[in-house]
Amino acid sequence: MKRSIGVCYYPEQWPEAYWEDDIRRMKSLGISWVRIGEFLWSQIEPEPYYYDFSLLDQIFEIIGKYGLKVVLGTPTAAPPAWLIDLYPGMLPIDQFGTIRQFGSRRHYNFCSKDFVMHCEALVRKMAERYGKNPNLGAWQIDNEYGCHETVTSYDPETLKTYQKWLEEKFSAKLPTNIKPISKLNKSWGNDFWSMNYVSFDQIGFPINCVTEPNPSHLASFLLFASDQVKKFNKRQVNIIKQYSVFPVTHNFMGKVIDFDHFKIGQDLDFASWDSYPLGFLEDRITSSQAHKKSFARQGDPDFQAFHHDLYRAVGNSRWWVMEQQPGGVNWAPHNPSPFPGAVRLWTWEAFAHGAEVVSFFRWRQARSGQEQLHSGLLSPFGEEMPVLKEIREVLSELKATPEVNISNSEIGIIFDYQAALNWKIQPHGKDNNYFDLVFDFYKCLRKLGQSIDFISPNNSNLSRYKVIVIPGAMHMDDQLISKLRKYSQTILIGPRSACRDKNFNLKEFTSFFPDFDLRILASETFRPDSPVRLENGGFFVKYRELIVTQNKVLLKTESGDPALIEYGKLKYLAGWPDESCLLKILKEIFKEESLSFKVMPDGVRERRSGSETFLLNYNHFSVSFDGVFIAPVGVVRQKVKKV
Ligand code: GAL
Repeated sequence: MKRSIGVCYYPEQWPEAYWEDDIRRMKSLGISWVRIGEFLWSQIEPEPYYYDFSLLDQIFEIIGKYGLKVVLGTPTAAPPAWLIDLYPGMLPIDQFGTIRQFGSRRHYNFCSKDFVMHCEALVRKMAERYGKNPNLGAWQIDNEYGCHETVTSYDPETLKTYQKWLEEKFSAKLPTNIKPISKLNKSWGNDFWSMNYVSFDQIGFPINCVTEPNPSHLASFLLFASDQVKKFNKRQVNIIKQYSVFPVTHNFMGKVIDFDHFKIGQDLDFASWDSYPLGFLEDRITSSQAHKKSFARQGDPDFQAFHHDLYRAVGNSRWWVMEQQPGGVNWAPHNPSPFPGAVRLWTWEAFAHGAEVVSFFRWRQARSGQEQLHSGLLSPFGEEMPVLKEIREVLSELKATPEVNISNSEIGIIFDYQAALNWKIQPHGKDNNYFDLVFDFYKCLRKLGQSIDFISPNNSNLSRYKVIVIPGAMHMDDQLISKLRKYSQTILIGPRSACRDKNFNLKEFTSFFPDFDLRILASETFRPDSPVRLENGGFFVKYRELIVTQNKVLLKTESGDPALIEYGKLKYLAGWPDESCLLKILKEIFKEESLSFKVMPDGVRERRSGSETFLLNYNHFSVSFDGVFIAPVGVVRQKVKKV
């Protein structure tokens, strides 16, 4: 498969007279893919069940005339006003009972049957009409599930669906002498604070309680909400598959972990995600102000790579960047333009991690409507922006290495969306969250020059990795544990792993292996200025466990508590390590596994992908590393020498 470049295009925003010229310019630039349609509902269906495909028909034709391919979005993220007039109950309701009104996008709740029915009718019409069109190349379903906090809605229809979902869950495989509601009460520990229910219709949303809701209640609701996203997505996929052989994707987001992306990935042909390195640095990354300042115009050196690797796993090896920031965005606390070279750097970072396509958001900056100040490849009035020079450079570089290239990484991190929800429910300390914990592990591995795979907890193929890392997986199911038992190389687990059952209750033993001995007596979290010092000179930051064990203790806290323990090839880390602690532990593991590593300079990263090695310099100054000169905000690509 060939690497290629795409762009997001909104013909509905521009006079018809522009369309052909726009596509012609895309073609002459070297663009291969044009993503259209994902917000086009009111144009395609201006009135209930009256469809007007004239705009799409024309655009399809022009795109085909110039030999480009369409990525067609189903426009269900932007329901039209008439639909809300018909079905006001489809609007989402926030936790304070406020209806989230029509006026922007994503104003729907996943459980509204009326809404889903209309989506299905529309998607069927689109699939019938374009499913076999030779100018089509791929489908995108909806747009960015979870964007603007839209996974959960607290409306009456969602409540009924949730109660039914609970009832079915707790009725399954139950002996007739036990009532499902009693099972729920017991599983959730409802004897405390008089929380016992007598029927499922008494169960409300786990919000707006006087103090904390029962975490088991919250866990079940978040899992339910995640399942609704999967269901919604799958219904559209099923319809499209009846009419079309073109691959189907969804564009996921950065650091949005409110639903299980792996479950949705099972229903897609490839995954894609929307990468906004400068927006994310300002808006989503937990780091020092000094770090943010140093990388303000280049983006964090690991954040994009993290998601590239994660979505490669979600897409079962196939993935794209569906939206790539081409200049400043409009939505972060500050919106700088990237340094010259940054867009080329981001694009190569994506290809280095196996992207098939990098598609830019958007073709031309808007003159009206929302997002007017978001940059595009063209100015609002059609002039080329300087970034085009970088895109042309990448396109010409691609001629030498056109093929998508995926590495066989030796390190796998198990990423668990359920754990992300569990940490959200019970962070146990200010700002603690699963993403940041996993990201800390990821960063240290990259700092040691590693190329990394993410692995779904349900992936059975662990044997090809030399090291498996599992931070923070609060609940591990029996299947995962039995897979780990069969795995014969190093596993680094913890902190806060396998310590809960599936209903969020504390487990007495953390039994990864029959003779593995670990009891967590207590856990504590602490202020950023009061970390726990370790014997190896590093620290536990944010969180740690007081544990007892009969197994070998490899590292202690300064006061003598076990911090890292070992049983065979399994190591358990009883706290959230700082960088220096984790780097030491990882180096030891790499030596034991005879894995080569190197300490990368700050802001420089290496990625190996099959036959290529990439050195990526996120600094705004040049760096020489391993005898190689890397320009500021630059990339050096090398073919791997055959031995
Ligand atoms: C994405 C979204 C796009 C656009 C873009 C602006 O999150 O999918 O439609 O809003 O952000 O950066």
